[in-house]
Amino acid sequence: MASMDGQVALVTGGARGIGLAISTRLAERGVKVAVGYSRGAEAAKAFAAAHAGATLHQGNIGVAADCQRVIGEVLEQHGQLDILVNNAGITIDKTVRKMSVEDWDRVIHVNLSGAFYLSRAVLQHMLDRGYGRVINISSVIGEKGNIGQANYAAAKSGLFGLTNSLALETARKGITVNSVAPGFIATEMVSAMPEDVLAKVVAQIPVGRLGEPEEIARVVEFLADPDSGYITGEVYGINGGLYM
Ligand SMILES: NC(=O)c1ccc[n+]([C@@H]2O[C@H](COP(=O)([O-])OP(=O)(O)OC[C@H]3O[C@@H](n4cnc5c(N)ncnc54)[C@H](OP(=O)(O)O)[C@@H]3O)[C@@H](O)[C@H]2O)c1
Repeated sequence: MASMDGQVALVTGGARGIGLAISTRLAERGVKVAVGYSRGAEAAKAFAAAHAGATLHQGNIGVAADCQRVIGEVLEQHGQLDILVNNAGITIDKTVRKMSVEDWDRVIHVNLSGAFYLSRAVLQHMLDRGYGRVINISSVIGEKGNIGQANYAAAKSGLFGLTNSLALETARKGITVNSVAPGFIATEMVSAMPEDVLAKVVAQIPVGRLGEPEEIARVVEFLADPDSGYITGEVYGINGGLYM
């Protein structure tokens, strides 16, 4: 297994849910984790207190200037950025008939534009070093759509197009760009769903249960590994058989 000691990863939303599992797993491989957060300062501080070399970066990834600043901070504090995990995301669920333009825009900005802003901001650095791993956390909903989630599905689907285009643009430069598409994973995002809706969802999952954040993190670690340089422009579905 190639060493990841001394590498630096920015994990957006890296102190909660799936992001926390990714940050933890990468830190266990010797990666210094720059944790992106928006409102969860306490969780971010708790991660940094437990992991040497971790740094904290507050910002709204739906705002281009924040993304530019965060990348600048990471490069200033660590001197390099090897791995970008675009993990942060939100849902504002409503049927199209009830969805306001603001509901649409907010979800698109955070879930899709944020990945573009951060990738663009770090790209020249990765190109200069001839190395990079970009991993976009999409969703099974981006593959299949869902009632009440047109904004989220469009954003997560859009990540596939961003992933593949950036993968093509960087394929000869030592940079890989991939998407991971989780199914329903046991985090706060899912526990916010009404109990009866959640029970119906679980009944449809062939494996018969929600996924665990660690089951996403292990695939992200695999894609972030220096040895995974021949994998680019790919989607890794991790959904217990919900979509195949
Ligand atoms: N859970 C699932 O079943 C599931 C399934 C498929 C895909 N996903 C995707 O996986 C990713 C993580 O989901 P999760 O379940 O771990 O979510 P979560 O527990 O709700 O955490 C969301 C994370 O995103 C951050 N965040 C939200 N808005 C932000 C903004 N404007 N700027 C910067 N950071 C922001 C939050 O940071 P703060 O705490 O600082 O606000 C938090 O760390 C998301 O992209 C989600 O769409 C999740």
